[in-house]
Amino acid sequence: MRTALIAGNWKMHRTAAEARGLAEELRGVVGGTGASADVVVCPTFTSLQVVGEALEGSGISLGAQNMHWEKEGAFTGEVSAAMILTIGCIYVILGHSERRQYFAETDESVNRKLAAALDAGLKPIVCVGETLEQREAGQMEKVVLGQVRAALDGIPAEAIPGIALAYEPIWAIGTGRTATPAQAEEVHLLIRQFLRSIFGDRAADAVRIQYGGSVKPDNASELFSQANIDGGLIGGASLEMESFAAIVSAAG
Ligand code: PGA
Repeated sequence: MRTALIAGNWKMHRTAAEARGLAEELRGVVGGTGASADVVVCPTFTSLQVVGEALEGSGISLGAQNMHWEKEGAFTGEVSAAMILTIGCIYVILGHSERRQYFAETDESVNRKLAAALDAGLKPIVCVGETLEQREAGQMEKVVLGQVRAALDGIPAEAIPGIALAYEPIWAIGTGRTATPAQAEEVHLLIRQFLRSIFGDRAADAVRIQYGGSVKPDNASELFSQANIDGGLIGGASLEMESFAAIVSAAG
């Protein structure tokens, strides 16, 4: 059985002091729920240090929202795998649709980042998902599986269980319009079957596939109870202690 993975993506919200406050609240509530899910929060780079300190020993892990694939060099504004790892990150989100849409992230850069993250010993969360136009044009499967294939190109089967994928339909992110549990499950199953055909049963059965896109306390348990949905990547609802804690509880 796969352990659910609940990750809070704080995006570009909260100053370091505010982020520390939220982490302290979470520590008290989520840290003490005896949650069976793996719980992660991903604040901005500037808050990683203080949030990591606030969460120490709580059982809640730290993640970053992005990284560069090079180890170091003249890459103004970028942050390496070693930098986030040594500040306490266990996880890193890669290829979020906002990065693809606004910051020229491509399938190729996601693939390079994934290889670098695995090399450094980070646990990557790789995001994929189609736009509404693509879905309505009947291209959902082609787009999503194309992104999965490209992200995992050259990655050995043994590394697959250490990766989480996050299916995030772009039309559901921050819109309040969630995929129905059946719509999400259909895509998660497609992704898992695709992984099975390329990497074999062991990898396909072990890899966690999170759902993301307007997950809230009132829809979380139905989503998480689907056979191929292994937790969620939570944006808006991860910014308030009560809603995030309720979503963690919904994961069992
Ligand atoms: P949302 O964001 O929960 O606010 O829709 C999810 C995400 O972008 O990871």
